[in-house]
Amino acid sequence: MSLGNNERSMLRAMLSNASRNWTLTEILEATEWTDQVHVAGAGQALSEAGLVEISETSSRRVVLGTEGQKAASEGLLESRIWDWLQMSEESERNMQGLFSVGFERHEAGPGVGLLKSLGVKVESGSFVWDNEDTVSATIASRTSFIQSLADSGEDADSLDSSLIEHFQGRKDLIEIEESTTRNWTLTKAGVDTKVEDLQEVEQIGEITPELLQGESWRDAEFKPFDVNAPAPIPTGGRPHPMQALIERIRSVFLEMGFSEIEGDYVQSAGWNMDALFIPQSHPARTMQDTFYLNNPEKVDVAPEMLDLWAKVHEHGHDTGSKGWGVELDKEEAQTGLLWTHTTVNTVRHIAENPHEPCRVFGIGRVFRQETIDRTHLPEFHQIEGIIHEPDANLPMLISTLKTFYAKMGYPDVRVRPAYFPYTEPSVEVEVYWRGEWLELGGSGIFRPEVTEPLGTEWPVCAWGMGLERLAMLVLDLDDIRELYQPDLERLSKMPIL
Ligand code: PHE
Repeated sequence: MSLGNNERSMLRAMLSNASRNWTLTEILEATEWTDQVHVAGAGQALSEAGLVEISETSSRRVVLGTEGQKAASEGLLESRIWDWLQMSEESERNMQGLFSVGFERHEAGPGVGLLKSLGVKVESGSFVWDNEDTVSATIASRTSFIQSLADSGEDADSLDSSLIEHFQGRKDLIEIEESTTRNWTLTKAGVDTKVEDLQEVEQIGEITPELLQGESWRDAEFKPFDVNAPAPIPTGGRPHPMQALIERIRSVFLEMGFSEIEGDYVQSAGWNMDALFIPQSHPARTMQDTFYLNNPEKVDVAPEMLDLWAKVHEHGHDTGSKGWGVELDKEEAQTGLLWTHTTVNTVRHIAENPHEPCRVFGIGRVFRQETIDRTHLPEFHQIEGIIHEPDANLPMLISTLKTFYAKMGYPDVRVRPAYFPYTEPSVEVEVYWRGEWLELGGSGIFRPEVTEPLGTEWPVCAWGMGLERLAMLVLDLDDIRELYQPDLERLSKMPIL
């Protein structure tokens, strides 16, 4: 094992007193180093080489926080109020009295709370007590606890743990500093090392352009690096994993030749449901599933569209369908709601461009009255898309979705028959996840009842996939809620996409 120069210096220094249990300060002094990082690094390397043994002891020190320092000089809040209560006239022992002697509102409330927990009661607005001695004793022990920390804190082990716990529950009174102290001793092999073998060596620690321009590196000795050595993980700003995932999905669809479309989540029931041939009696329309709006309560829909949907729903119009055989309520079609799926986006796109073939996608936030659980949220995102062109067909739809998921890293998705009122055939996409098939979304070919009122006769491949479900796979989460908890620690550990 070839030792680097730092290891050699540290070992030489330790051999000057081979049986000592060295502290950090002693090593710094003996090596004349100023940075403790050298001791940690060289000590680690020497321990790996079996020459030094490291012992660690951890300690918890209790020190005063900002409020604690104030309390040390001015007295604890409960103590100041208690002192006043004991001196005051009985008629002044109320909130008004507290304010009149200068206690601020933000102190009075919590202060009285503290005294109440010690047994002081408020009767008809006045403070009363019958345990003067215990209150005084408790306050005295709290005060001396805080006083004892005033200089430089105390080791947690030497303090009353119930008082530590008490003050930990109060804001900024105390802080606990955890620290680890290391000591280094030579092992038998360390003691047996010869000082003569520990001379400084010429080693190259950094490869620079200047070095490579010359020839001297050819015969030089290089400082070994341990690429597996533990090192701190740098943390810095980064996009939220959901945002990063959205960017990645975007680039995958753009790469596959799709363009992006956008829409508004305030919509009419007409565009959200009637356009999709969802009967007005459909259970998903109820208040249990859909968020209806008070403002706007009504969203206008072009009368031509209402007429067309009415015909389709009532008797099928020119589509060859019999429709639902039920009259369409045009008022109801204009109720305002939060869209329950981004399919509104794609059908509106077709209505606006009925004669232009297109491949478009959109990513949008949707709303449903779902009960929150491990795989459901009432607000989530969908990745919607269509292929609208004369030769669009089912295999094209399936291969497009499989390609998308394969590009996202999931080549093993399965499709199976499904039902949606607006597609025929309908297909569900699922992925095998932790022992079960997880539904990723729905798709199919829009029915003529949908496309005809939009003004097109071409087939339309359509799909709507859950973004959060995909995020669970990509980020390896157990619970969909983890995505939106503002837990910086966990977020910073999620993979970079
Ligand atoms: N809108 C469906 C959903 O929200 C998904 C879907 C979109 C199904 C397009 C078929 C066609 O689950």
